[in-house]
Amino acid sequence: MNKAALFGKNRKQRQIQIPLLDLTRKYRAIEDELTQRWRAVFSSMKLLNGPNVAAFEKEFATYCGVKYAIGVASGTDAVYLSLQALDLCPGDEVILPAHAPAPVVEPVMAIGAVPVLVDKVKGDYGADLESVKDAITTRTRAIIAVHLLGLPCDMDAILEIAQRQNVSVIEDASQAQGAVYKGRRAAGLGMVTPMSLGPVKNLACYGDGGIVLTNDDSLAERVRLLRVHGQAEKYDHRIYGWNSRLDEIQAAVLRAKLPTLDQDNARRGEIAAEYSDYFRSHPLKTPPTFPDRISVYHQYVVETPLRDSLKKFLNDKGIGTGIYYPIPLHQHAAWRAKGLPQYSLPEAERFSRENLALPVFPELSDEEVSYIMSAVDDFFSIMD
Ligand SMILES: Cc1ncc(COP(=O)(O)O)c(C=O)c1O
Repeated sequence: MNKAALFGKNRKQRQIQIPLLDLTRKYRAIEDELTQRWRAVFSSMKLLNGPNVAAFEKEFATYCGVKYAIGVASGTDAVYLSLQALDLCPGDEVILPAHAPAPVVEPVMAIGAVPVLVDKVKGDYGADLESVKDAITTRTRAIIAVHLLGLPCDMDAILEIAQRQNVSVIEDASQAQGAVYKGRRAAGLGMVTPMSLGPVKNLACYGDGGIVLTNDDSLAERVRLLRVHGQAEKYDHRIYGWNSRLDEIQAAVLRAKLPTLDQDNARRGEIAAEYSDYFRSHPLKTPPTFPDRISVYHQYVVETPLRDSLKKFLNDKGIGTGIYYPIPLHQHAAWRAKGLPQYSLPEAERFSRENLALPVFPELSDEEVSYIMSAVDDFFSIMD
């Protein structure tokens, strides 16, 4: 019998509460190990620039197949320090997708660079490549590619455009720890890879945290300086930088979680495959898949013009959902307040109206997955 039918139409249903993401389940599974690791940090009182950060940087660089990984205080800082390391200046133009979260554009604004938005491409989560080409001017210094929702962008195509125009590619992999593009991890493919490791990410600490990955020696050196006020040694300031450190407590969490990242991502993939297979007979767009890219399903997002009604229906059944994102960058009040150009970006705007994320966290039980599928089924039966 089809699993969803266990809960299906005309059957008496037990209401289950399923949040979009339940962080307590993973925590419970590793609580003893974390307590041991944290106790060691506190008994040493080495809270910053200590052995856990150094070890995590090595372990994560090896995992990603990238030469350098430099821990920083957040994903927003990781993007900001990446732009600074590339020596972006006020007035430089940076191309980025409109269907992205605000922390991708904020660092561009903080530097005084000019954000230039491009539309989403249909059938993929990346930017429309023709629009990227058209957006390039003599002032363009960088393109930010965002591996949105766990799916790597078509990096080869972006890199080809960038190389032709001598523009750097910043690859924001905040939502794609462990994802694979053409047999390689989705990191270090562009010039520099900023990544958030904040609490909701696939590899997540229990507070703010981020990392910058690069294969470039001088960029790595610059990020390493920038995160500690530009100091090579204490009070020896080579450049002016910032205070942006991943701390020992968070690095200890990340070290405890990294060994199970692949297993957790595989479970997300399994749930996603089950959803997509089941939803094939429903009037829903399921996430795009590509033979040469492995998504880590940071979010499992369906697309439907009935998004708001479906969201309410699922909420009434106890199922948490999310929207990634409800407003594209050019429609935020913050964007307008800066007097930035108005755009018409139809695909990004449609996606913001129609996308809905269903729970896909690795600790979901089979029963919960079935309950979610049957709830979606019930919704469309009523709509028939
Ligand atoms: C794509 C992307 N970039 C940057 C960030 C910023 O990361 P943080 O919240 O760690 O500052 C996020 C956070 O959600 C993100 O999704």
